[in-house]
Amino acid sequence: MVSISSSPLSLMSFNVSFNFNTSSSLLYPFSQKQHQPSKNKKPKHHKIACTSNDTNQNSPKEQEQKPSPSNIVGHRRNVLIGLGGLYGATTLTNNNSLAFADPVPIPDLTKCVIPPTGLPNNITPFSCCPPISSNLKIIDFEFPTFKKLRVRRAAHLNDSISIDNFAKYDKALNLMKALPDDDPRSFVQQAKVHCAYCVGGYTQKGYPNTELQVHFSWLFLPFHRWYLYFYERILGSLINDPTFAIPFWNWDAPDGMTAPSIFTDPNSSLFDPKRNPKHVPPKNTFSNYRDTIVDLNYNKDFDVPGTINPRPEVRINENLTWMYKQMICHAKTYRQFLGSRYRGGEEPLQNNCAGSIESLHNHHHVWVGDRRQPNGEDMGHFYSSGRDPLFYAHHANVDRMWSVWQTLRGKRKDCTENDWLESSFLFYDENKNLVKVKVKDSVDDRKLGYVYQNLDIPWINHKPKPSKRVQSKDNKLLAQRPLRKFVDKFPIVLDSAVSIIVKRPKKSRSLKQKEVEEEILVIDGIEFDDNIGVMFDVLVNDDDDKVIGVENSEFLGSFLSLPHGHNHGNNKKKEKKKTCFTRGLTDLLEDLKADDDDSIVVTLIPRYGDGVKISGIEIDFEE
Ligand code: C2O
Repeated sequence: MVSISSSPLSLMSFNVSFNFNTSSSLLYPFSQKQHQPSKNKKPKHHKIACTSNDTNQNSPKEQEQKPSPSNIVGHRRNVLIGLGGLYGATTLTNNNSLAFADPVPIPDLTKCVIPPTGLPNNITPFSCCPPISSNLKIIDFEFPTFKKLRVRRAAHLNDSISIDNFAKYDKALNLMKALPDDDPRSFVQQAKVHCAYCVGGYTQKGYPNTELQVHFSWLFLPFHRWYLYFYERILGSLINDPTFAIPFWNWDAPDGMTAPSIFTDPNSSLFDPKRNPKHVPPKNTFSNYRDTIVDLNYNKDFDVPGTINPRPEVRINENLTWMYKQMICHAKTYRQFLGSRYRGGEEPLQNNCAGSIESLHNHHHVWVGDRRQPNGEDMGHFYSSGRDPLFYAHHANVDRMWSVWQTLRGKRKDCTENDWLESSFLFYDENKNLVKVKVKDSVDDRKLGYVYQNLDIPWINHKPKPSKRVQSKDNKLLAQRPLRKFVDKFPIVLDSAVSIIVKRPKKSRSLKQKEVEEEILVIDGIEFDDNIGVMFDVLVNDDDDKVIGVENSEFLGSFLSLPHGHNHGNNKKKEKKKTCFTRGLTDLLEDLKADDDDSIVVTLIPRYGDGVKISGIEIDFEE
């Protein structure tokens, strides 16, 4: 039997959906012959549709026009990759001076969209807009003064300091929930902050037709850091305790991989009934322990009645390796980690994409959300996730991973691009003042007055392992894949597993070169109906006859998008939403001893969500 699988569980499911079965090639939609690329034909290197060359095709007249951000969005990422990645390192650092570069501005509160465009159609529409007074006054952020840093603690701990801290949280959140709904500090309004910024409630100030979106890009970590900052300050002020700090859900460590019990007591303010009861059972209700251990690469379609999750130690090991990949293998450059560029005047999701930790965090949302609800509420959809107190604990750990990454980054560059540093958001503070904050002021958590409790990092040595015989020369790679459906034409419609041969522009690079530039796989122009959740897995150089799990080097990653709605209502021109998926290849190729190969074989396995289209796959280099 042949299978490509992320876990013993997925083994079954995979065979059902794709019939990757050696003994029954009839089940396979194409004959074997068709799967094998002809030996004489050189595999084509596929360029993505909008390469940097495209911009040169403009007529001189067009080039003279000051490009408005909206008419160059499709090109910008590639222009910059072109400059930085392909034509030398020095130009990349100068891109701040590109004429059309702009930081993302604050939302225009006076134009807040009701209902937000991305609200699902199957719920009663409502407003996510914050209350605003007639004299809309915005103040600039100032760093807080404090005597002692607030310490955010792991939520599963039960020492006396922690217990005391969590009791304060319960008290403060009760007070927050008791505030009138139109008080910007109320819990109802806190949840709406996420809704407005994440499902199309806002347009960018100065760009009345351009949606503001804080996911799928380098805004993800700073936005959510600010969000937690004000949430925490409001809670602290409600109990008159400036030392109050919110706890974090320590899901990257074995002890923290189940939902912390402080959140599961139905009598606590930290409880939310809209959660998957199998994964996050309310206190004193039964659930199988195996089911309560988080799956950091969760696939909801493998989670059907009758399936048995792996033994705890197996799942924990998978999770730790998955953490290692996201925090080390796929976090070597700041854009790999933070997410790709997204700037003022750009429609979101025109080829910008999430960083490694944002991707991981999406799976967690789906895992917690209640599948009995129409949209996986609360955590399973961005419009509702801020209603679950677990959201803030989940995001505190995401935020902590940013702080941890800064310590691991070593000599690697931090982001110094103006368009990121000067991007800004609006939040209400504990005094109901509307405050404008900038990304640059969020980079150092200590300046904001808090730190994370210092804990061991259990995944730090959890390197992935190759599944197999490691030996690789391109021809052998192909011989090992007699059953593949190889494609060499784009766009690909991802309705079954496909393999693509991707040429490597450089190979056998020195250690030094690898330190300067990371080799990355870029899957570009990923399009789908954004009303539905979508997931596919990406494997590199895997064998047909091996089961590949997340703990294996060949498992490069999973693309997962939560449903986040679409533009309905207004008649403005709709741009198809397109996102991308990029992951570092250097460690993987070393593990598989494939660093001298001319090409790699990339296999895409659709997991759920129909109609995914991909416009190109290529290898790039990133500083
Ligand atoms: Cu704004 Cu976890 O999402």
